[in-house]
Amino acid sequence: MIEPLISADAVPVGGGVILPAAGVVITQPVEGTFVAFGSTCPHQGCTVRAIAAGTINCFCHGSRFRIADGAVVGGPAKEPLPHRAIKIEGGQIGLP
Ligand code: FES
Repeated sequence: MIEPLISADAVPVGGGVILPAAGVVITQPVEGTFVAFGSTCPHQGCTVRAIAAGTINCFCHGSRFRIADGAVVGGPAKEPLPHRAIKIEGGQIGLP
């Protein structure tokens, strides 16, 4: 059993959703591939706030992270967003 966070249908292809209460960002960089990251910016600990044009964005100082792998696209962050494990069951995405 998983603890469901969101329906897979609710995660846009080429984008994602930020779930601050769970501390998780879930993206779907290509159709059918779901990836998850922690939502805490590795720069100074703000919660990332938006996903646009292929990046997960922190508004505190402007760091941007690639939706496919969390890699830094634009600083000041030097570390990527940390990966989180997820499972998909019955069309729901959740934490294992
Ligand atoms: S805390 Fe995110 S850019 Fe500084």
